[in-house]
Amino acid sequence: MSLTVVANRLPVERLDDGWAVSPGGLVTALRPVLRESEGTWIGWSGEAGDAPEPFSADGIRMVAVPLDETELEHYYEGFSNSTLWPLYHDRIRPPEFHRHWWRAYSAVNRRFAQAAARHTPHDGTVWVHDYHLSLVPNMLRSLRPDLRIGFFLHIPFPPLELFAQLPWREDIMVGMLGADAIGFQSVGGARIFRRTARHFLDVSLRGKTVRYGERSVRVEPQPIAIDTGAFVAQASTAEVDRRTAELRAELGDRKVLLGVDRLDYTKGIRTRLRAFETLLDREPEWARDAVFVQIAVPSRANIGLYREMREAIESTIGRINGRYSSSTHVPVHYHYASMEFTELLAHYRAADVMVVTPPRDGMNLVAMEFCACRLQDDGVLVLSELAGAAHQLRQSLLVNPYDLDGIADAYGRALRMPLDEQRRRMRSMRARLRRRDVHVWARDALATIGAGTGARSPNPADGSQ
Ligand code: G6P
Repeated sequence: MSLTVVANRLPVERLDDGWAVSPGGLVTALRPVLRESEGTWIGWSGEAGDAPEPFSADGIRMVAVPLDETELEHYYEGFSNSTLWPLYHDRIRPPEFHRHWWRAYSAVNRRFAQAAARHTPHDGTVWVHDYHLSLVPNMLRSLRPDLRIGFFLHIPFPPLELFAQLPWREDIMVGMLGADAIGFQSVGGARIFRRTARHFLDVSLRGKTVRYGERSVRVEPQPIAIDTGAFVAQASTAEVDRRTAELRAELGDRKVLLGVDRLDYTKGIRTRLRAFETLLDREPEWARDAVFVQIAVPSRANIGLYREMREAIESTIGRINGRYSSSTHVPVHYHYASMEFTELLAHYRAADVMVVTPPRDGMNLVAMEFCACRLQDDGVLVLSELAGAAHQLRQSLLVNPYDLDGIADAYGRALRMPLDEQRRRMRSMRARLRRRDVHVWARDALATIGAGTGARSPNPADGSQ
C-alpha cells in the first residue's frame, strides 16, 4: 500500500538549514505508514509565493503546493476560514459568501488534486484532510480512477439548515463524495452528512453507505485521538518535572485553572473568563486562593474577526484583574504567544483544573493532552458538551459553554473536588485515551478507506502497542 496524505499545511517548520517536522498527532500517527510505503505528504509550506522543490523531512517526502498572496487571501483566509469555518461551527460568527473566494477555492483545490495525481503511484491510497480541500476527492477521482481515496473532516459538519445557506452546497457535497470513505469526528456529523447528501443530491442510503451514481461511499464517525504514549513519556522527563515544580512555586499556594487554545472565536475563551468573574463575584476569596492562566496562541491574525476577538478577550481580562487584583496577586494570567512544548507539558501538569469550553469544536485535542499528562491521575477537566471530545471524555465535568452560571458552578465543584473523585474520573479517561490513541485511529481509518492495513496487521502504525 502506498499512501499520500493531502492537507492544507505540510507538517513542517523552517529552520536555518532546512525543514523539521513539527510535532503533531496526525504526522506522528502516519509517519510509520508513510515511511514504510515511501509515501508523500502534499501541502502548503506556510510561506507565500514559489514552493520549494520536493524534499524529505524525518523520512517523509514532502511536496509543497505554491500559494500566492491573493490565493492566501481568497482561498485560505476567505473561503476556508471566513466562509466554511464559521458556517461549520454553527454560525458562531456570520460566514461571508463571495464568488471570487469560491473561484480561488476551486482553483487551489484543483492544484492540490493535480499534485496528488502526479505524486501517487498506481493503485495507491490518497487521504485528504479537512475543510480546505473538500473538492479534492472528486477532482482527483476524475484524474486518477485507479486510486483509493479517503477524506477526513477535522471540524464539525453543520446542521442541514445551516449548510443549506451555502451557495455552493451541492459542489461541496459532490466534491467530498468523490472519496471511497468519508470520516467525521462524531456519530452526529456522519449522520447529518448522509441526510444532507440525500436532501441535495440523487443518492440512496444503506446503513453507513451512500450510494451515489455507480459508486458506494462509506460515511462513518472516526473520532481522532492523540498519541497518548508519547504525551505520557514526554511529560515524565526530568526537564518537565523541574519546570512543573518551578511553575507551581511561581504561581504560589493556590489552585490553578488553565486554558490553552489557539486564539479563535470557536474556543469560548471570553465566556470562560466571564464565568471565572462570576465565581469571584460569588466567592471573592477565590481571587486570593486561585489563579486562572490563559494561554492564547496567535492564529489567523489577518482576519478581522480574530483581531476583534483578541481585543474583546483582553479587555475582559483587564476588567477582571482591575476588579480583583490585590497588591500581591493578579487573578488572571494571560499569555498571547505560542508555547514551547516542554512549557506546555509543565502547564498541563501544574494545573488543578483544565478549562475547555468551545461553543463548538470538532474534537479538541487539548482536553485529551491534559488528561494524558496527569501522571498521578489527579486534576479535573471542565469540558464543553459541544466539543467532540465530550463524547470521549465522559468523566469530565461537562458544561453548556453558553451558560455562565453553569460554568461558574463547575469551577466551584472542580476546585473543591476530593482527590479520590478526581482520581476515579481521571483514571477512567486516561485508560480510554490509552486504548483509543491516534495510532488506532489511523489504522481503522485507513482500513475503512480500503487500504487494507487494518486487516493485515494488528497495528501497522505502532509496532509497540
Ligand atoms: C483547525 C483545523 C486544522 C488547522 C488548524 C490550525 O484545527 O481543523 O486544519 O490546521 O485549525 O489552523 P491554521 O489556519 O493555522 O492551519
